[in-house]
Amino acid sequence: MSVRAVVGLQWGDEGKGKIIDFLSTEADVVARSQGGPNAGHTVVVNGETAVFHLLPCGILHPHTTCVVGNGVVVDPAVLEAELAYLDAHGISWKGRVLLSHAAHVIFPYHRMLDLAWEKKRAARSIGTTGRGIGPAYVDKVSRVGLRLGDLRNPGWFRERLLANIEEKEALLEWLGFGEPLEHEAVIASCLAFGDKMASWIIDTSRYLNEALDAGKRVLFEGAQGTLLDLDHGTYPYVTSSSPLAGGVGTGCGVGPTRIESVFGVAKAYTTRVGNGPFPTELPDLEAERLRGLGEEFGATTGRPRRCGWLDAVLLRYGVVLNQVTHMAITKLDVLDTLPELRIATAYRVKGEVTRHPPMDPWMFEHVEPVYETHPGWLTRTSGAKRWGDLPAAARRYLDRIEELAGARVDMVSVGSGRDMTLHRD
Ligand code: IMP
Repeated sequence: MSVRAVVGLQWGDEGKGKIIDFLSTEADVVARSQGGPNAGHTVVVNGETAVFHLLPCGILHPHTTCVVGNGVVVDPAVLEAELAYLDAHGISWKGRVLLSHAAHVIFPYHRMLDLAWEKKRAARSIGTTGRGIGPAYVDKVSRVGLRLGDLRNPGWFRERLLANIEEKEALLEWLGFGEPLEHEAVIASCLAFGDKMASWIIDTSRYLNEALDAGKRVLFEGAQGTLLDLDHGTYPYVTSSSPLAGGVGTGCGVGPTRIESVFGVAKAYTTRVGNGPFPTELPDLEAERLRGLGEEFGATTGRPRRCGWLDAVLLRYGVVLNQVTHMAITKLDVLDTLPELRIATAYRVKGEVTRHPPMDPWMFEHVEPVYETHPGWLTRTSGAKRWGDLPAAARRYLDRIEELAGARVDMVSVGSGRDMTLHRD
């Protein structure tokens, strides 16, 4: 099975970076299909932490070619910083980083609009990462966005960008952010970026299809998670793209039958950053304990993550929507010192017990999780080298997750290091 997709099964931050880093050892090409610098894929190599927001984190494996697909929104400044990181670490990227001509560009006014809308919405704000993601996708859908391919034609690019800037200035003024935008500086830096990357802004859909036809091993690197999906997540508290395995088709320009296996990644508990429903969220003090144990602070914004018990209702929902073939459970070691663990196996909604999440956002207010309790293992798991080294209670916890979620747990991570991932077989 050499064409794989890795997806998050919760609200992002599941530790996908670590699993992608591992699976990249068996991939020739690693491709991202959606999202933008709202993601923060963390990989720890020899004690050094690397966080990638835009480039596939498979870039750390020198044999891979890394693709930023058409479904991604690209902030040139962030990409430049990541390329500089690679340069500083002696990692060659020329010819290894391919950018889709159809990926949309995030401009400074997208970031400003993101913050301005959030402020305006006040109590109804989403708690976005502030990276301009939503406004960039709005422009894409409104068909006024500019794409990386447009950087090849300065006249075309300039004319359209200036028209956009005029509109955005009016909008920003209405939102109370009246600063004029620095047109010329933005145009110059974007065109310089386009020039620098010209040879690698290509039709990545064609590249990927040809690579697949040639039998290359391709790994699709998902960002965010199922519950942040624009259509199937906890709308409106979601991101603006589709992090599902189904999103890979449109986000990379490959047919859906190309994907042979889907790796769903979930934490051994649940976290969420930003606003919106979270049925198994723990009250402040208990959440703080889990946050401390799991170092639960956003990789992109540094915000403290909300923390709670594992929610098997939502996990099963993610397994179905993505048709997960393999599951990876991360951060099991974070639970090592807890005497008792809980898993939500169902919801009670207005007196009715259900195994499905509610359809409408306001219904989450009536959700009461139905928990089962598991004994903790109270043993350090981070030294485990094989599945069999895990304490029996931890193995039972994993077996139960598998049973409730409806997918096989093949991998478990017990620490941040590359060698701290255990495989069932
Ligand atoms: P946006 O994607 O910045 O518009 O944010 C929308 C929602 O998705 C907010 O709740 C963010 O905190 C959340 N979000 C976006 N990207 C990530 C991620 O990579 N990990 C976790 N949450 C994310």
